[in-house]
Amino acid sequence: MKTFPASIKALVTGATSGIGLAIARGLLARGHTVFITGRNKSKFEALMEEFRPYGDRVTGMAADLTRSSDVDHLIETALMALSHRVDLLVNNAGIAPFVEIEESTPALFDEIMSVNLRAPYLLSRAILPLMKRQGCGLIANISSVAGLEAWSGSSLYSMSKFALRALTGSLLSEGALHGVKSVAICPGYVATPLVADAPVPPEEMVQPEDILKTLLYLMELSPSAVTGDIVLKRLGGL
Ligand SMILES: NC(=O)c1ccc[n+]([C@@H]2O[C@H](COP(=O)([O-])OP(=O)(O)OC[C@H]3O[C@@H](n4cnc5c(N)ncnc54)[C@H](OP(=O)(O)O)[C@@H]3O)[C@@H](O)[C@H]2O)c1
Repeated sequence: MKTFPASIKALVTGATSGIGLAIARGLLARGHTVFITGRNKSKFEALMEEFRPYGDRVTGMAADLTRSSDVDHLIETALMALSHRVDLLVNNAGIAPFVEIEESTPALFDEIMSVNLRAPYLLSRAILPLMKRQGCGLIANISSVAGLEAWSGSSLYSMSKFALRALTGSLLSEGALHGVKSVAICPGYVATPLVADAPVPPEEMVQPEDILKTLLYLMELSPSAVTGDIVLKRLGGL
């Protein structure tokens, strides 16, 4: 079991907005190397322009995680760009349509599952063997408090986020002997565009940078230590 290198290589999905953007910015500002990906091509290109001062420490590509061919291409491109070393994989990209079961459709089920669950599974499946060979690595899956509890309207989202915690559990068991950790982070409201319509002011929510700080904390733990699910809620509520 090894400690994380002083300068890590990370792959962050959903890096074009909200939590993923805060993670990418924070890692780059601390001297790490980051491969970023997001769905919207023009947002992605604008971000690459913003990150230009970081030179070859930042690479990435736009990819739609609902498309299998995009996911395959993403994995291939990211591994090439990172020279087949990944210390941190953050499965963060996600969508959260809330709809009651009777109003939901199989097409929406498929869309949510492909972004929130299938892509994390495929990325983890590709990267776990690398991390095992490295003897070190962290796969952080951004679940949700809706991955611990389900409410009216949360069914599809909760199903995806509960299952993401199941993926995390198996990754943790399968990586443990090789120094590879996996943790599910389960936030309540985080101030991002995803919850722009929430009945809580953004300044009272968990901040996107809190997720970055959680990842930094996880990587500072000794190689033999790992947490269970990390639940991050706003003070006084979800
Ligand atoms: N905000 C919260 O209150 C909260 C609470 C608990 C959990 N979470 C989880 O945290 C994660 C990040 O959410 P956020 O709040 O930062 O949301 P956000 O600001 O809406 O960002 C979502 C990110 O996911 C990407 N994405 C969405 N669909 C995609 C697709 N089909 N293919 C590729 N990328 C796609 C988006 O790309 P584009 O920008 O290019 O569309 C964006 O980068 C999600 O998994 C969410 O479920 C959020």
